[in-house]
Parts: sequence; structure tokens; C-alpha cells
Amino acid sequence: MQPDSRGRAIHPPAPPSPFPLACLALLAGLTLSTPSASGAQQEWSWPERSENLQVLPADFPAERLSAVMRGFTRALGVRCSYCHVGEEGQPLSTFDFASDDNPKKDIARTMYRMLGVINDTLATIEPSGPAAVNMWCHTCHRGRPRPTTLDEELAEVHAEEGIDATITAYRQLRERFHGRGAFDFGEGTLNGFGYVLLGEGHAEDAIAIFRLNVEQYPESANAWDSLGEAYLAAGDRARAEEAYGKSLELDPENENAREKLAEIRGG
Ligand code: HEC
Ligand code: HEC
Repeated sequence: MQPDSRGRAIHPPAPPSPFPLACLALLAGLTLSTPSASGAQQEWSWPERSENLQVLPADFPAERLSAVMRGFTRALGVRCSYCHVGEEGQPLSTFDFASDDNPKKDIARTMYRMLGVINDTLATIEPSGPAAVNMWCHTCHRGRPRPTTLDEELAEVHAEEGIDATITAYRQLRERFHGRGAFDFGEGTLNGFGYVLLGEGHAEDAIAIFRLNVEQYPESANAWDSLGEAYLAAGDRARAEEAYGKSLELDPENENAREKLAEIRGG
């Protein structure tokens, strides 16, 4: 069955505003636990005075800078060299951290300002619980530099490389990210994506996606119902009957499956 809504709100960017210092303290506080420090970091120490801070306060102390940078690194699932000028595997003493030559560094600054705007905006509403929920880099990024949703990711692969590569991509992403909150691997994602493909007239591809979903969620009556619908759209009445039958077996209350079965058997 179709998902109720696949709301994907897109808001225009708000003008930048300074990052609230309260949030900054939180950002530093939360990230204090140390991620795997590379051996190279032992020979290098955080600068007493940074040369080129534009979004953080110019006199930001070394230990807090360290917490923020480690936080960035973990939030995006990257290493220092992702945003800084330096070669992975080389000692950090060979890096030029003050340089702005790596364009990712300025993007990170833009993100930082954006986060400030978001948190300023959130501060204008009444919190839903005892404390306001803060937004962090990892609220969006969740361990990836490009925080796509699962269906965006699959749609991109599908558009560029077709259905087989899409199925492979799903399996690889699931293997790597399942349980990390990076993607929504619930049955609704493949179900929604399958309907997008069906709506675009790719019935065979939709079938492949719905089959993947029933493989992942063999006990889901809804996943089997969707598969039945795609088979019917593709004109495969025998397989549609099988899928709707399976759905009804799992959920005897599924009136849609019962009706479709009656239609298939009657006509
Ligand atoms: C997601 C991008 C990103 C990652 C990853 C990152 N940084 Fe940064 N780093 C920045 C940005 C942006 C600034 C500048 C902040 C500003 O303008 O206030 C900065 C500034 C610095 C500075 C101050 C340089 C100066 O003198 O002005 C140091 C030192 C630094 N980072 C070290 C590190 C280390 C070490 C790592 C890895 C543990 C790291 N960073 C990971 C984005 C990043
Ligand atoms: C509200 C969600 C959101 C928050 C919060 C957020 N980001 Fe992002 N970020 C994105 C999106 C979306 C993109 C991808 C933009 C694109 O390439 O289309 C992105 C892209 C980036 C990139 C470029 C990645 C690449 O490979 O080109 C960097 C670096 C980055 N973010 C750093 C940060 C840092 C550091 C923070 C915290 C200060 C942060 N982001 C907070 C949504 C967010």
C-alpha cells in the first residue's frame, strides 16, 4: 500500500547569524570523549593560539578547539585531511591547519553559521520537553559527509546505473550503516521508493525494489501487498496473486489484498 506521505520539506536558507555561545559550549562539551587518535597526533600539539578562526572566537582555547574538531571529524565520519591541507597518513605536524586552500573547510564554516541560525530559530519556540533539543552537526550528518536519505541515495544510483546497481548499493549501505542511525532502513523506505519507481512507469524496477523489501521484511503484509500491486501493474497476474495471497495470509484483515485477489481470480 502507498505510504501516507513522503514529506520532504525544503526551506530557503536563512541569512547567517553568529553561532550562539551557549550552543558552542554544548558542542565542545558533548564531543570531549576522544575518538581514536592517530599515533601522529602525539608528536603534534594543538596551537596555543589559532591564526585563522572566523566562526569560532579568535581566542578559542586549544582544548575546546580540539573538542570541536574531533566532533566535526566524528559527525562526518572523516579525518582531519577532509577539511584541512595535509596528507592522510602523514604526521599532523606536516598539516597546514590555518590554510583555507581546502574548499571543504569553508563549507564547514558555512555549516557552522547555518547551525547557529537553526539553533537561534529553535530558541524562539517553547521546548517540547524539560530542555530545548539542540541541533548538532551529527544531527544531520550521522557519520557521513553527505547526509542523503536512503531514498535519495537509491534514486541517484538508480538514475545513473540502473536497478542492479541500486540493489547492490542497498545491500552495501545496509551492511555498513545498519544500526548507526545514518539511514532509515525501516520497511517504509523501500516501500516508498518502490512507489516512486512505479509512478514513473518503471514497473519492473519497482518489482525488484518491493522484492528486496519482502526479502528484508518477509513478515510484512504491507510489503507483500505492494509487491502484488507492482506485479499487477506489470501484467504478471500469477505472481500478483501469489504476493497478495501471502499478504492476506500474514494479515487476514487486509481488505485491499482480499479485493485484489477476488479481481484477479474473477477476471
Ligand atoms: C568538517 C571540516 C573539519 C574537520 C574534519 C576538521 N576541521 Fe579543523 N577546522 C575546520 C574549520 C572550518 C576551521 C576554522 C574555524 C573558524 O574559522 O573559526 C578549523 C580550524 C582548525 C584549527 C585552527 C587553525 C588556525 O590556526 O586557524 C586547527 C588546529 C584544526 N582545525 C585542527 C583540526 C584537526 C587536528 C582535525 C582532525 C582531528 C580537524 N581540524 C578536523 C574544519 C574542520
Ligand atoms: C541541517 C542539516 C545539517 C547540519 C546541522 C549540518 N550539515 Fe553539513 N551538510 C548538510 C547537507 C544537506 C550537505 C550536503 C550539501 C550538498 O552537497 O548537496 C552538507 C555538507 C557538508 C559538507 C560538505 C561535504 C562534502 O563532501 O562536500 C561539510 C564539510 C559539512 N557539511 C560540514 C558540517 C559541519 C562541520 C556541521 C556542524 C557545524 C554541519 N555540516 C552541520 C546538512 C547539514
